[in-house]
Parts: sequence; structure tokens; C-alpha cells
Amino acid sequence: MLRSEDLLASVLALEPPKSPLEPATAESIEAADHALRFWKSTDTGPLTPGSDAHKREVCRMFRETFNPYRPSVIDWPKLNPEERRRVTSLPIWDIAVHTEGRARLRFAAYAKSVSDPDVRAAIMLNAWEENRHKEVLAKLVEAYDIRLAKEPAFEVPRDPEWVYLLTGFSECIDSFFAFGLFELARRSGFFPVELVDTFEPVVQEECRHILLFANWLAWHRANLPWWWRIYFELRVVAVWIAIARERIGLAFSLDKGDASKQADSNFTASSASAMSADGIGVRDLLGLSLEENDRRFAGYDARLVRPTTMPTLAKFALFITKPWARKKAASRNRPKG
Ligand SMILES: [Fe+2]
Ligand SMILES: [Fe+2]
Repeated sequence: MLRSEDLLASVLALEPPKSPLEPATAESIEAADHALRFWKSTDTGPLTPGSDAHKREVCRMFRETFNPYRPSVIDWPKLNPEERRRVTSLPIWDIAVHTEGRARLRFAAYAKSVSDPDVRAAIMLNAWEENRHKEVLAKLVEAYDIRLAKEPAFEVPRDPEWVYLLTGFSECIDSFFAFGLFELARRSGFFPVELVDTFEPVVQEECRHILLFANWLAWHRANLPWWWRIYFELRVVAVWIAIARERIGLAFSLDKGDASKQADSNFTASSASAMSADGIGVRDLLGLSLEENDRRFAGYDARLVRPTTMPTLAKFALFITKPWARKKAASRNRPKG
């Protein structure tokens, strides 16, 4: 029986595809950042989802876009008292640290169950990067003296594919909104520029993670026999229902005043209102997240599959709320008195 300690040991034992930049110069950091954001396959043929070429190039993309930064050398900027108050009072640090910690072990558990060596290595590298995100956040928490709730114990999943789907789709949702929120924080000056720059590679890595997940999903689906494919699609539906239930449950726990869950459930809403001086509407946040989603994916080979569920849902929500938004704008512009 696998233990969580064994899973963590296998994540930490991974040898990343590039060694850390030492000594890091402005040029080497710039080059690593460019490699993280822009990638085109040298294979000129079609990358049909499910084909060997598709799998090989997706895994190569993941290796070659690896950014070898080291969390321990991050120079956390000094914050003035107001900046510090704003950063430390954001209700996101518990959920962020716990989510990264859980994701690294869930990805590792699934990677261990995959027989294809390329796919296994890519998902294990993803687990390693989630561990690095956790380290970055741990350093930030330490630097700004943020208090965290106790981390819940990790239960090794009996069904690694289920938790991989659960975490993968959850990352697709969270990353989509994180793209918009991060840009909102940058534009509003909520975070000092140095802190935005420090976190930028982490946000782009999440974009890369969901790119890997979307392509794994397409490759996996295409290689299932039809009867197994039906079962798999039912599982995907069940995963989305589980995610919806989890998030609705958290929202209800807010009403009951469950402070321990408050940080999770109102993450997007409270962060959005905290990050802009004059508040931001849901439509504005959706629009900004869509723009940022397109911008962050634009640098990767167009033949790779993109995550589509969140952008499609966001476009649909913007479309159906258009008349309401128009009415609101008209009443705002109408002369008073
Ligand atoms: Fe992460
Ligand atoms: Fe991730």
C-alpha cells in the first residue's frame, strides 16, 4: 500500500530537465522566461490528438518549456505597511498552499499508475512543479509572516485517475480566473510590481499545466476503445458534478459562517473586490480572464489542444447577460432628475 510519504519522496527524487540558472544573469532569466511562454514543435506534420506524434510533442513541449528558477533564491520585495496589510489580509494563502500540496501528491499518484514512460514523466514533472509552487508560497508566507491554518492530512487515492481528473479540471477553473485576477491586481497596483514579477512565472506555469492536462485528455480519449470511452465520458460528467457540489457546498458553508472554509469558497469574489479600488463586476472579470487566457496560450504551438470548457462557459455567460448589462449601462447614463 502506497503511503503519502512515498509519493512525496518520488516527487522530490525527480531530476528536472534543466539545471538551475547559476549564476542567474538578466539574459539567462529572460531566455528561461521566453522558453516558458513560447514553444513550437519542429515536427511539421499534423499533431492529431491521440497519435504518437501528438503525445511525443506534448511531452516535449512540457520538458522544453520548463523554467529552472529556484524558490530559495527569490528576493521577496520589502513592502510598506499598507502593501503588507493588503497582501497578508488576502483570503487566499491557506487554500493556495493546501491546493499545491494536495495537487503534487495527486499528480504523483496518477503518474505512478501510467504505463507510457513519456506521459508518466510529464505528469511527474507537473507534480514536481506543484511542489515548487508550494515552496514559493511557503517562502512568501515566511517572508511576510502570514499565519496559515493547519494543513489537512493527505489520503492516498484509491482511484488515481479520478483524482487526476478532479484536480486537472479544478486547475482549469482556478487558472482561468487566476489569469484575470492576476492581471487585475497588476493593473490596479494592488501588488507592488516586484511581487507581480515574482509570481508571473508561477501563473504561466499553471497555464502550461492545464495545456498538458487538455492534451493528455485528448490523447487519452482518442486511445480508448469505444466501450471504455463511454464509461470514461460518464466519469468526466461525474467529476464535473463532484466539482460543482464541492464548490456549492463551500459557498453554503460561508452562509453558515464556517470560517475555516470561507477562504476557499469566496476566493474569486473577495479577491476581485479586494484587488480593484472601485470593485469589479462579474462580466468585467470574465472578459479580462478570457483576454488573458488567449494571451497566455498564444505562444504555444497552435496544433496543441487548448482547454475549452471555461472559455466556452465564460463566453456563454457574457452572451446571455448582454441585454442586462446594456440596460444597466443605459440607466447609468440616463440624466438624473
Ligand atoms: Fe500549482
Ligand atoms: Fe498546476
